[in-house]
Amino acid sequence: MTSTFEPMPDDSWTGVLESPPGAEVQIDGKPYLYFAGTAYFALQGHPAVIQAGCDAFRRYGVHSATSRGGYGTSPSLLEVEQLAADYFQADAAFYFLSGYWGNNIIVGGLAGHYDVIFYDEHSHYSIMESIQLARCPAYPFVHRNPDDLALKFREHLKGGQRPLVLTDGIFASSGRIAPVDRYLELLQGIPNSLLVLDDAHAVGVLGDGRGTYAEFGISSTQINRHPTEPAADTARLYCCGTLSKAIGGSGGIVAGSAAWISHLKSTSRYFNAASSPSAPIAAATAAALGLVMTDPSIRQRQQNNARHLRTGLRKLGLEIEDTSVPFTGLIIKDASHMQMLQRELRKRGIIIAYAKVYSGVASAGQLRIAVSSAHTESMIDRLLREFASLLG
Ligand SMILES: Cc1ncc(COP(=O)(O)O)c(C=O)c1O
Repeated sequence: MTSTFEPMPDDSWTGVLESPPGAEVQIDGKPYLYFAGTAYFALQGHPAVIQAGCDAFRRYGVHSATSRGGYGTSPSLLEVEQLAADYFQADAAFYFLSGYWGNNIIVGGLAGHYDVIFYDEHSHYSIMESIQLARCPAYPFVHRNPDDLALKFREHLKGGQRPLVLTDGIFASSGRIAPVDRYLELLQGIPNSLLVLDDAHAVGVLGDGRGTYAEFGISSTQINRHPTEPAADTARLYCCGTLSKAIGGSGGIVAGSAAWISHLKSTSRYFNAASSPSAPIAAATAAALGLVMTDPSIRQRQQNNARHLRTGLRKLGLEIEDTSVPFTGLIIKDASHMQMLQRELRKRGIIIAYAKVYSGVASAGQLRIAVSSAHTESMIDRLLREFASLLG
């Protein structure tokens, strides 16, 4: 198994964000137009979200100080789980501290139901960590390549063994979407096979908001079911997501059948107080999710802005896929050129991201540009103009 863990730069390298993420932010004391990060709906600073968090602070205090195995279940946690079940059209949902844990929780919950792991070579760190904890043979396959996955099956899967395939739904650095339909086609020929999607960047964004599986026309009733529950297909699909990015709250989420969610809650290793979001965080998250569910224009603006950005970048001669993913990775010449682009934009009051080290990022590093529902077309046009002038 290969590991993608490398040292990460500290925040002195990027700057300190002194406002909620949004179209306009304050970093290190200065105002900027912000095209970095993952707040795709920019609700983190919405007055109703902040008010809900403040009310819950007064009502419930900072934290329950105990785990859900004790009296750590606040009404706000249950509210998020009920809303999430409705949003994902599922029976039930499990809400936990961090989207990062989602893969761990699912892979842990599937213990005993797989023999060999296969993972996209650009998988997010959280997938890599879940593989390390799974302690079974694990093999990478070429990024977004079902043919290579088939080859890896032929090389490493012995008769009767059950594969567990892991991939991001949307890749965090590039913004590309995993070919879920092709993976499922391949897995249909293998009894008791499993596919797990880390949908952290797709929740809210793809497939009417439910994520990558919905984008591929897969019904919510076909995902996140206990392996012993009857299923129409030979392959089983699992997804975890986060409410910290597009949705504008904080914490990880899995929504699925009642049997699967109850199993995950009982097998998750996080029996500590801090494994559940505190009541104020949960209340703010419930408010954000409520806004997303009642006001479709929030997502519509994100979708329009993503298309506007992508069309504009294509007009600059860059190769950009035609999707509604709100961010795209860009590799332009070499590391020093990309750092220059980032630095010069910052001097002009515009922030984009450059990562030297991250899951799926090549050695030169990668620029990453993201838009949210809060941007206006004229803000995006300003970014495109300044970017064009630097590209020359
Ligand atoms: C693909 C992927 N999975 C999981 C996570 C973790 O989500 P959270 O920040 O909500 O813990 C991230 C966050 O950056 C991510 O990019």
